[in-house]
Amino acid sequence: MGRVTPPDIKSMKENGQKITMLTAYDYSMAAMIDQAGVDMVLVGDSLGMVALGYDSTVPVTMDEMLHHSRAVSRAVKRALVIGDMPFMSYQISPEEAVRNAGRFIKEAGCHAVKLEGGIEQANTIRAIVGAGIPVVGHIGLTPQTATALGGFKVQGKDVESAKRLLRDGEAVAQAGAFALVIECVPSGIAKAVTESVNIPTIGIGAGPHCDGQVLVTNDLLGMFEKFTPSFVKKYANLAPVIKEAFANYVEEVKNGSFPSEEHSFPGGEDFV
Ligand code: KIV
Repeated sequence: MGRVTPPDIKSMKENGQKITMLTAYDYSMAAMIDQAGVDMVLVGDSLGMVALGYDSTVPVTMDEMLHHSRAVSRAVKRALVIGDMPFMSYQISPEEAVRNAGRFIKEAGCHAVKLEGGIEQANTIRAIVGAGIPVVGHIGLTPQTATALGGFKVQGKDVESAKRLLRDGEAVAQAGAFALVIECVPSGIAKAVTESVNIPTIGIGAGPHCDGQVLVTNDLLGMFEKFTPSFVKKYANLAPVIKEAFANYVEEVKNGSFPSEEHSFPGGEDFV
């Protein structure tokens, strides 16, 4: 099967097929996600919290994003790989945004980029798309600017902000993005945005009416114990399983039962 492309993603909306997206930050996980048939792999700047231990996504740098994006691109054979533009890599000017978006494509093997923001980012999205780089938009709760939004809160909870979300979605679609992430908004508003734009919407904490869904992989697997948003469904609870495996390893090395003969290369005594 060939590589998933932005036109494939757009036609999935037209055909009423749900779209799947998951985050990945390293080679092994990205390979498993790809083999499971996920349509799009996002090297999310959530890596700052999940993989690098920062308190937010704000400190994440272009170099960190490119490093992890390269690892993911090496693993993914079928899915579309999207690099998430980190805070201040696209806000200063459209020129700088195009330059940084280009680095995800040229240096890290990504096929598209994602950036946060609605109407205020329309010119930047237009410039990146104009340079031939497919763009995914991201509206609603935008973690890079969560402080300005008053924290990690559900967005669109009054008439004015709901209308703003509709205008944001339309501006991102008209600027040429091929898909739109909607984060942390009431289901009814995500449904209205989904119906008002001609590009697929990918929801996270945005209810069942979006054209597709995305989750942070480490949340879905129950591997990130610091904080789990209420909209996350844990499809596995791996943290206790992993910790038990580590504890068993420690015990067996300490008591001498690992490595046994099965995990050793026998012989060699005659040579010394
Ligand atoms: O950084 C990220 O992982 C994201 C997703 C939550 C959409 O932006």
